[in-house]
Amino acid sequence: MKIAIYPGSFDPVTNGHIDIIFRASEMVDHLIIGVLSNVKKQPLLTVEERIDLLKATTKYLKNVEVEAFSGLLVDFAAKKNATIIVRGLRAMSDFEYELQMAQTNRSLNKNIETIFLATNIHYSFLSSSVVKEIAMFGGDIHALVPPVVEEYLKSKFK
Ligand code: PNS
Repeated sequence: MKIAIYPGSFDPVTNGHIDIIFRASEMVDHLIIGVLSNVKKQPLLTVEERIDLLKATTKYLKNVEVEAFSGLLVDFAAKKNATIIVRGLRAMSDFEYELQMAQTNRSLNKNIETIFLATNIHYSFLSSSVVKEIAMFGGDIHALVPPVVEEYLKSKFK
């Protein structure tokens, strides 16, 4: 049974994340979305809020679950019997950080491989930070996030 982890801050989940989640879920038997609970940067949403939004938007995917984690990603992966870490690559600017993270994780646990999925070209500019900034100033985020996230951010910044 192939188990993969898709880790991230998801503050909040965007359509770019959803695209990666859907594609990764088709490649493995079970996909665990790992939500980092001790984010260094101050998150807008609590870990519970981020998990609720992820669950609401992925509930139709039967082999996907959402869970918080803290500490090292490779330790969480090993605890869940996952052998694959999935990350999305939007642009060359992501590459250096992602390569360093993949190599660090492999040096910590050689049984866990990182695979990269190229982000859908429609979302290559998209990040949670961009979404938050647009929402904060009352801009239109309809095309950028799932409807439940749009509603949530609208009420948050009302
Ligand atoms: O969505 P993000 O913020 O780009 O996700 C980053 C994340 C959660 C994948 C990364 O910060 C992480 O894995 N943190 C856990 C701590 C860890 O394992 N560090 C060592 C690898 S660099």
